[in-house]
Amino acid sequence: MKKIFIEETPRMVGQVVELYGWVSSKREHKKVVFIDLRDRSGIVQIVGGEEFKNLSTEDVVYIKGLVKERPKNLVNPKIKTGSIEIEAQEIKILSKAKPIPIPVDDDGYQIDEDIRLKYRYLDLRRERLKTNLLLRYQFIKEIRHFMDEKGFLEIETPILTKATPEGARDFIVPSRLQKGKFYALPQSPQQYKQLLMVAGFEKYFQIARCFRDEDPRADRAYGEFTQLDIEKSFTTQEEIQSLIEELLVKVIKIVFPKKQILKIPFPKIPYYEAILKYKSDRPDIREKKDENILAFCWVVDFPAFEWKEQEKRWDATHHPFTAPKKEDLPFLEKGEYEKVRADQYDLVLNGFEVGGGSIRITDPNLQTKIFEIMGHTKKQVEEKFGHLLEAFSYGVPPHGGIALGLDRLLQVILNEKSVREVIAFPASSGGRTAVMDAPSSVDEEQLNELGIEIKKS
Ligand code: AMO
Repeated sequence: MKKIFIEETPRMVGQVVELYGWVSSKREHKKVVFIDLRDRSGIVQIVGGEEFKNLSTEDVVYIKGLVKERPKNLVNPKIKTGSIEIEAQEIKILSKAKPIPIPVDDDGYQIDEDIRLKYRYLDLRRERLKTNLLLRYQFIKEIRHFMDEKGFLEIETPILTKATPEGARDFIVPSRLQKGKFYALPQSPQQYKQLLMVAGFEKYFQIARCFRDEDPRADRAYGEFTQLDIEKSFTTQEEIQSLIEELLVKVIKIVFPKKQILKIPFPKIPYYEAILKYKSDRPDIREKKDENILAFCWVVDFPAFEWKEQEKRWDATHHPFTAPKKEDLPFLEKGEYEKVRADQYDLVLNGFEVGGGSIRITDPNLQTKIFEIMGHTKKQVEEKFGHLLEAFSYGVPPHGGIALGLDRLLQVILNEKSVREVIAFPASSGGRTAVMDAPSSVDEEQLNELGIEIKKS
């Protein structure tokens, strides 16, 4: 006999089945004992006798039993298997469970988040989180399928790399082979995807992990998050936008059929209009806040540069690889940087920034000029970005792309309070990893090998 999932049992009335799972709850009625058995797919009621008496909740068990239709008045419409129950013929306890430190049979919102994250493997037993992760899997699966059908190739890019400026602090990793030197974890695959365009791949995507050392917020995971990262050669702003619209409309219809997208095509709102009308560059354009309505819009025509008063310098509003709008190039020449708009588009959903992209600079001279406006010296540009500028000198196609923040997108679609509710093992808001509790100290020996000495503060 083959192991089946609990959700399959209603189709097997009259048959003997073998189930494996956790004891979710137990009720005794004189000589009869009822348990709810839980596996990944759901819950089913099992009827047993004496042999069930020493079961505790969360024990892992094997049960062989007969699937029986329930009398009409005992049908439970609240669960998928509510029309049947299983009459146990054999039970084996595979693992005993101690009483668990947090309940897992409710939505869990009221439990302290740090405790939930310490016991995340238990927390993930709850229905709500299990469903979130299942939907996340289906969402990403459908995205891959769509991108594949459109002729995009998924290509992996390095995690141990060099700093790429996206406006956050880098995580750095010490090198053992070259003491005193460091790798940086990528804030995004930005430069590699552009190098893939130079290489001629034309249509790239990646479900990419990005690393940024920035303070966590409800809509921002600490440390790492996942993007759908896309780049395309010989393209336009409009083409990237319609690709993303088609993708989201299709995938949301399959994975979240109850959700309704407010306006298709997504409205385009120039940055200054968004600020004037909505007082935000992440406008929520819904008239009333209905969680089943998804109101996407594009915010376009961002200023290319912003003045950093503290550092007394211009910085790229998004990242330095974003092309200025062609018609604004004369302002750049005249040094009127505040007037230059960027060929940049942000995707906003119900007031959250869920994506951002741009047409890129491909002229090495213009790219160098942008770095210089941002305050880099010629020498620094050469050191930090020489590889990209050199690549652009060997035949670079015009290109552009976008990245969607998948965690945040799912958070908003699922109407969750925090981005951590859609991530299996997120770091806590204090920046400690779930369960494993990193960062932690390392051995003296390991530090020696890396040539690192810790300063006593
Ligand atoms: P950007 O920095 O705008 O662009 O990132 C794209 C999207 O990623 C999401 N995001 C995050 N989600 C969760 N936690 C975080 N800490 C976090 N930071 C960002 C947001 C954001 O819109 N390389 C460019 C893309 C490009 O130009 O193609 C980039 O990374 O939803």
